[in-house]
Amino acid sequence: MAPKKWETQNPSGTKRIIVTKELPGSLWLERLIQADCRVEVCTATDVLEVDEIKAAIGSQCDAALGQLTENWGDALFAALKSAGGTAYSNVAVGYNNVDVAAATKHGIPVGNTPGVLTETTAQMAVALTFAAARRTGEAERFLRAGKYKGWLMTLFLGELLWRKTVGIIGAGRIGATYGRMMVEGHKMNLIYYDLYPNPELEDYIAAYADFLKSRGEEPVICRRADTVEDVLQQADCVSVHTVLDESTHHLINAERLNLMKANAVFVNTSRGPVVDEAALVAHCQKNPNFRAGLDVYEDEPDMKPGLVDLDNVVIVPHIASATRWTREGMATLAASNVAGILSGFPAWNRPDILPFLEEDPPKAAPSIINADELGIPIFKG
Ligand code: DGY
Repeated sequence: MAPKKWETQNPSGTKRIIVTKELPGSLWLERLIQADCRVEVCTATDVLEVDEIKAAIGSQCDAALGQLTENWGDALFAALKSAGGTAYSNVAVGYNNVDVAAATKHGIPVGNTPGVLTETTAQMAVALTFAAARRTGEAERFLRAGKYKGWLMTLFLGELLWRKTVGIIGAGRIGATYGRMMVEGHKMNLIYYDLYPNPELEDYIAAYADFLKSRGEEPVICRRADTVEDVLQQADCVSVHTVLDESTHHLINAERLNLMKANAVFVNTSRGPVVDEAALVAHCQKNPNFRAGLDVYEDEPDMKPGLVDLDNVVIVPHIASATRWTREGMATLAASNVAGILSGFPAWNRPDILPFLEEDPPKAAPSIINADELGIPIFKG
């Protein structure tokens, strides 16, 4: 393994922070510099191994900003602790790559970046839904290959989702936003499965239904299903928005895919292992009118054999949160988590996280997952 290159910013800072990948924008760096940090950024684009991160932590390191592709487990938190580290933040909202219990055991607060990915990720789920339903990937490949010889009534017939039923599995922030985009934009009925009801979503859609009625239009319906199976059977397109943990590993498997309509669209922008990808490949091979749109993969960056050969699958490389505003926001929130803890601030842990992107941010760490376990006070201002 060739040693990776690291670049130092603000070398005179008294607290040493490592950042395992280059981050977009400049506000994140300003936040760390304001907290008197010397910032060392790895400029390599390949994923860092645990040993490489351990070497970068070295014998003195106050905090780290890491990526969802890295394995932040006991080995790294022990190394960070013994180097005098007191804070870690994932530059992501998801943290299935972080052993939070291990971090807590070593007394290290763990931050994440909620609240700035919601609309961006939901939009990508919408984009994948329609790219799959309207076969844009296949059609573009056909065109680029010089195969278009003129307009044909039968060329690339897809699915019209207008006024059909959208299904959501996991109706948290991103799932509910996707649902609203599909309902409001395409007048679809909505069916969702979640362990908890989402009354805000249900009320919103009820009010939208009243609005449609007031205009003499057919109202839309929103229903919470008792089972994942019910959603899969009823919906014309289904988008998954769960976290990845033991309970959601291979939540979508061969048996459940078989329940879906033969011409349904399935979308995943959550985490790859929520879907049994080999089963999805087999299902798409057997059902040419079934379509999928995927942003995430079970063995990322690899894909299961056969996936890339499928014309009925649209694939993008984990870019659902990749808008400039969101990625700069994620970097700023992650830096603010670490800067806040190093400055002795309380945890904010509120849904309205956008004040941290403004010029004069709250004196708090925006989102600390294990704040309660570590007895970090919650902001009361
Ligand atoms: C996250 O933050 O968890 C997303 O997957 C990044 O796109």
